[in-house]
Amino acid sequence: QPYNQTHRPQFHFSPKAHWMNDPNGMVYLNGKYHLFYQHYPEGTTWGPMYWGHATSKDLVHWQEQPVALSPDSLGYIFSGSAVVDHNNTSGLGKDGKVPLVAIFTHHNKELESKGRNDFQYQSIAYSLDEGITWAKYAGNPVLKNPGIVDFRDPKVMWHEEGKKWIMTLATKDRITFYSSPDLKSWVRESDFGAEIGAHGGVWECPDLFPLDLDGKKTWVLLVSINPGAPNGGSGTQYFTGDFDGKTFVPHSTETKWLDYGTDNYAGVTWSNTGNRKVFIGWMNNWQYANVVPTVEWRGATTMARELSLTAVDGKAYLVSSPVKEFEKITRLTYSKENINSSREIDLSAKLKKLNGSFRLDVSFQNKENFQVVLSNKTGEELRIGYEKDSNQYFIDRSKAGKSDFEKGFAKKHFAPRISSSERIDLSIYFDSASAEVFVDNGLNVFTDVYFPENQMDQLKIETNNAATVGRIEVYDISSIW
Ligand code: FRU
Repeated sequence: QPYNQTHRPQFHFSPKAHWMNDPNGMVYLNGKYHLFYQHYPEGTTWGPMYWGHATSKDLVHWQEQPVALSPDSLGYIFSGSAVVDHNNTSGLGKDGKVPLVAIFTHHNKELESKGRNDFQYQSIAYSLDEGITWAKYAGNPVLKNPGIVDFRDPKVMWHEEGKKWIMTLATKDRITFYSSPDLKSWVRESDFGAEIGAHGGVWECPDLFPLDLDGKKTWVLLVSINPGAPNGGSGTQYFTGDFDGKTFVPHSTETKWLDYGTDNYAGVTWSNTGNRKVFIGWMNNWQYANVVPTVEWRGATTMARELSLTAVDGKAYLVSSPVKEFEKITRLTYSKENINSSREIDLSAKLKKLNGSFRLDVSFQNKENFQVVLSNKTGEELRIGYEKDSNQYFIDRSKAGKSDFEKGFAKKHFAPRISSSERIDLSIYFDSASAEVFVDNGLNVFTDVYFPENQMDQLKIETNNAATVGRIEVYDISSIW
């Protein structure tokens, strides 16, 4: 059983062995969700990049497939996307077979070591057997580097109104949009972002897609940034606005964050899923990704999450919720309503032994201080809660286990609350080495990893005197492996 090591996620994707970082090329085709990912198949740290591959029928259970793309004379295979070229605009289809086309960055180590600035460029590959085998296009690269050191992570989509492909590319401190009729020749349309958003680090792994907001099409632009995230290191900001096939015009200049935890990076959405927008991120942070204490493999994804938009005080915000398919592996084991206010509710006694992967839902009737404490007898504890005075949620992993691998790891992280409702609904998905917290129905989200030495099997809720706990539910989550 390759999935039973200490800290091995039980309901998240992680490679059987070796390193992973960004999710890549996510595309839905013929009943299967494809997940490619930055992979080093010869070691458990970052190295020459390949695209690993896994498939799923339900975004929950994954089957690892052979490595999809390997480095070649043009370079390592960095992050990118994949599309179904339904109309064979690329001409890469054959005998009526629709091609899957991957658009990725080639990172050329040799050019880099010569001190040149044009060592990243965009290339394509295609598959005629649903992503199992790939051929690189003979005319690569399809987009040469104009002299920008960070020139990468193409996310391509079909723009229906303009009847053309749009590539959203991270170009150092901004996003550059390109368009193409055939995925092979690209022209620059516009730049966005040099003077807006967070700029504590380089811009990476963008994604552009439309969502409905109160009946109006609104475009969302995700931009990962490293470092410069609100709680340090890598994080993902987003903008909402209009996109006409040429230019992205933001509706507001405020910087918003997809996830306030430290461990959701480089995430993008699946293509070819119609109106449904499904996101997955890399559950890690470049600050310590190479040294987290796992053996045999390193890196995992977040849960697949459905994205939507909602307005709060006239401003658009992204809402994330675990895809409903997770309900299949989730089973209610404890529930209690109208709990008399008491300052500590110890659930441990009421639950059968917690095994590390479970979900806790709690609702608080009023905005008062509370903490959810997951712990064990050896004194390790993870705290998740709300501070009324500062109106912030937090996750505190400072005593949650191993942390000597990185000096900034053992910390408390904060998330300013977006909702102003009196009631607080909390839903936390705990896996062996991670917590994904969805608050206010997904308006505030934070994801953190942690590495307990021993099983965390005690669970309690602490509140101040004024808090009223409404309902508590605990669910088992079965292993997907
Ligand atoms: C983001 C990133 C991308 C790059 C890839 C390399 O985590 O730095 O910008 O394509 O990882 O593995």
